[in-house]
Formats: sequence, structure tokens, C-alpha cells
Amino acid sequence: MTGATRVLVATTNPGKVRELAAILAGLPVELVGLGDLDGAPEVEETGATFMANALLKARAYAAWSGLAALADDSGLEVDALGGAPGVYSARYAGPGASDADNLAKLLGAIAAVPAAERTARFRCAAVLADPGGRTWEAEAAWEGRLLDAPRGDGGFGYDPVFVPDGWDRTSAEVDAATKNAASHRAMAFAALRPAVEAWAAGA
Ligand code: IMP
Repeated sequence: MTGATRVLVATTNPGKVRELAAILAGLPVELVGLGDLDGAPEVEETGATFMANALLKARAYAAWSGLAALADDSGLEVDALGGAPGVYSARYAGPGASDADNLAKLLGAIAAVPAAERTARFRCAAVLADPGGRTWEAEAAWEGRLLDAPRGDGGFGYDPVFVPDGWDRTSAEVDAATKNAASHRAMAFAALRPAVEAWAAGA
């Protein structure tokens, strides 16, 4: 895009860059991922909240790259488990756990919970940081309930057991476009869009 300002997305996943590009379409920004830059450092997610982790990543990558940076952190909160796995969603079954390991641990943990009490949400914190250290924040939750067995092979992570409110299918049983239009990430970055637009106008 001619005249577009480059913005770094703090992810090595090209799918996530494309997902954000769709949400931020029409803004004069060109999104690049960590894989597009040489020598990107790892940033450890040591925060106690999704927002703390998103702030850590956005600030670190903006400072490192000299570009504005977008970062997010997300996970699943299960009411019957007091909000777990929360910020530990990616490593619920231990360090290096696979999606399948995490899902199996979750199904074990909620096995005795009646269907009516299996309420949960995906939460996403999204942050824009500029290289000068200014930050803008947005957060969103996607409410739903958990099944007692997986359904569908789309999506990733806990999608096969998550039925969003108002849906009769899991977020793994719909196509990517349908999920990505409704998800916690979509809502959080849509809420952050005005900040990105204002920042790009002044950049
Ligand atoms: P991340 O912060 O987006 O990397 O997400 C951390 C972890 O939360 C993932 O490894 C998944 O276990 C879970 N998670 C986040 N978003 C989703 C989603 O959209 N579907 C299923 N699982 C998710």
C-alpha cells in the first residue's frame, strides 16, 4: 500500500497477521509479522493478566523495532474452575503442552461439572504501542459454554469444546471467516481500530 505506515504485529503466525489485516482493512497501515524482520527477540509472557502480557509484548517489540507494534494475549476462562486456565491457557497441561494435551486436561477438570454450569469465555487483550512508549489498550470477551467432548476440526486450542452464546456449533465447526468475524480477537482489535487509525493519521 503506497504511503502506508508499517506496523509490526507481535506474532510469528502469518495467519494472525492476515486476520488482523482484515480487521484493520482501509487504514493506511501495512502490517508485518515478526517473521518479516531479522532477529526478533523472544518476549516472555510473565504477566499475571492478559493485558499485562499484551503490554509487555507490544512495548518490547515497538522498542526493539522502532515501529509501532500490535500485540495480543488471550485465553479461556472457565467459571467452574475459578477462571482457569486463564493466562496459562497455552501451557495448562504443562510447559510445551500441545493443544490436545490442554484440551484433555480441561475435559478432565470439568467432567463432573453439570452442563448448565459449564459457562466460559475466551478473553483477548489487544495493545498498540508506539516506539516512544505510548500505549493504547482494548479488551473483549467471547461468552459461551463448554461441551463434554470435542466437536469439529477447525480452529485451534479449545475451539472444539467451545459453543459461543447464540450458536449451536462449536468454534471448531465453522469456517475460519465465520469464527474470525465473531471472536474475542476480532472484538478486541475492532475496539482498538480507532486508536490505530488516529495513530496512523499522526505518524
Ligand atoms: P494466544 O495468546 O492467542 O497465543 O492464546 C493463548 C492460548 O489460549 C492458546 O494457546 C489457546 O490454548 C487459547 N486460545 C486463545 N484464543 C483461542 C481461540 O480462538 N480458540 C481456541 N483457543 C484459544
